[in-house]
Amino acid sequence: MHIVMIGTGYVGLVSGACFADFGHDVICVDKDQSKIDALLNGEIPIFEPGLDELVAKNVEAGRLSFTLDLAEALPTANAVFIAVGTPSRRGDGHADLSYVYAAAREMAPLLPKGVVVVDKSTVPVGTGDEVERIIREEAPDLEFSVASNPEFLREGAAIDDFKRPDRVVIGVNDEHAERVLEEIYRPLTRNESPLITMSRRGAELTKYAANAFLATKISFINEIADLCEKVGTDVGDVAKGIGLDSRIGNRFLMPGPGYGGSCFPKDTLALLKTGQDYESPLRIVESVVASNDQRKRSMGRKVVSAMGGGEQHGKTVAVLGLTFKANTDDMRDSPAISVVQALQDAGIKVKAYDPEGMDQAAKVLNNVIYCDGPYEALDGADAAVIVTEWDAFRALDLQRMKSLLKSPLLVDLRNLYSRRDVEEHGFTYIAVGR
Ligand code: UDX
Repeated sequence: MHIVMIGTGYVGLVSGACFADFGHDVICVDKDQSKIDALLNGEIPIFEPGLDELVAKNVEAGRLSFTLDLAEALPTANAVFIAVGTPSRRGDGHADLSYVYAAAREMAPLLPKGVVVVDKSTVPVGTGDEVERIIREEAPDLEFSVASNPEFLREGAAIDDFKRPDRVVIGVNDEHAERVLEEIYRPLTRNESPLITMSRRGAELTKYAANAFLATKISFINEIADLCEKVGTDVGDVAKGIGLDSRIGNRFLMPGPGYGGSCFPKDTLALLKTGQDYESPLRIVESVVASNDQRKRSMGRKVVSAMGGGEQHGKTVAVLGLTFKANTDDMRDSPAISVVQALQDAGIKVKAYDPEGMDQAAKVLNNVIYCDGPYEALDGADAAVIVTEWDAFRALDLQRMKSLLKSPLLVDLRNLYSRRDVEEHGFTYIAVGR
């Protein structure tokens, strides 16, 4: 199959490299000259474990290439995937579809007969209809199909998620598109990954419903964690106790500082807007969004109150972990942003260390002292707070930590440590829901 991937962002690049690895011929197109130049030089503009090797291997094998030129890529395409950004529109939270529609308009006159245009970007219900309308307007005589094929990749585990998915969702309104997409994903069905075919609108909504449901699970366990603190029990036990019920499932029940990242915050808001547009209120998702916003803000206050509350002018906190989760350099909607701001609002100085996220963090956080390692951040600080669950923070030398801190206070927003271990070393230990 000849596949064209429009957009070499996170989704486009991972999907393009994985399709090439299945044996398809893939050309990735992007408007950003610097991205294409970097990729042609073998540099990967994002951090994703294993992606550099996968890209290099498939470029070498001649199955994966990069270009700025749509006219070079499109004429032989069997399928064109649209994997451009759909950020939240400023002001109203709607997904901004201008990049999707611009891509459709630009490609239309260059598309070959029988091509299947596939939306991979996360797009609200009805976007496929509009893409179809635009292409028909620009190329009235063209035979083509428009399909939806949302991705469910987690940052940091994207290649594995792509190659061993729980399911692949295919939204089609005609048999030709169904056949082409089945052919593209055939290597996966050999691994017994189920391919679920449904209407285009069904696939569009499935993506949002999945993310909103996962966000709901996280917010639910976070609120239960707060209650556990009040009633004096351990949320880990409660999560295990409910999660072993297979109707609930034990994943995504880790309490923490609130969900962040490029998907959950944006997609829950966009789903709410769709609910409003169709006069079908989504009150549960509304509460989840409010609960998570509130949680992120409250986590910084939790640290301040552990330090004795109120104005802590001149004190210093070591923040360990800045990215919204481990194994990424992504700072988008990271809870660390609210935590750092709350500390700074209380007059506290922040020293921070993150294994991958400090360059990105420097773009969104002011007046933070970035350190070369966790112990440098801890040196001379009045307290430590773990915000991201990096493996590098799971086995810190507690003795050394205690000798570096002015006062032995550890706030563990990811529950990485056991209370007994930490307290045995003479720390005051504050975790989440325990
Ligand atoms: C998510 C979805 O998992 C993925 O299917 C979709 O395609 C994109 O959005 P991602 O944003 O990469 O992926 O991260 P994920 O691992 O899902 O975590 C999202 C946020 O939830 C992080 O801030 C994480 O720390 C938090 N989280 C996750 C919890 O607080 N507790 C959990 O149990 C799980």
